[in-house]
Amino acid sequence: MPPIALGADHAGFTLKDALKAWLERQGHEVLDLGTHTADSVDYPDYAAAVTEALLEGAAGRGILVCGTGIGMAMAANKAPGVRAASCVDAYTARMAREHNDANVLTLGARILGAEDAIEIVRVWLETAFAGDRHARRIEKVAAIERKEHRGHVPAR
Ligand code: RB5
Repeated sequence: MPPIALGADHAGFTLKDALKAWLERQGHEVLDLGTHTADSVDYPDYAAAVTEALLEGAAGRGILVCGTGIGMAMAANKAPGVRAASCVDAYTARMAREHNDANVLTLGARILGAEDAIEIVRVWLETAFAGDRHARRIEKVAAIERKEHRGHVPAR
């Protein structure tokens, strides 16, 4: 698997470091883009660094940690081609891959312990995209990004 880019703000860096250690123990190559201290920083800076690593091909997947996982998801999803999912348990992690082909996982360090976060990362890494009707749906998401998808509800 290509390297996994990691990023976090001050609220998430301790969990990010724990995930980094676990990922490396599992044999993954990790690109740690910070932050590395508890000094207050702005989460979009790290979301941008991780999504740039993906877009440039330096990483295949990204994991972002902030207090809730919400700000990181909002910021990461502004980057083209990024499908960031904020997951809170193994089920949402599995669905984020099977149905949404999420290439970025966001986690909330203020709502998850390290053990639960590791389980979420494990499931997210091990689960494949199911394709089929879900591929059609994520192509529509991409079309919204290109401003090519006009909203409509098909007639019944
Ligand atoms: C930082 O206090 C906090 O706002 C940030 O980590 C994150 O939760 C934002 O969504």
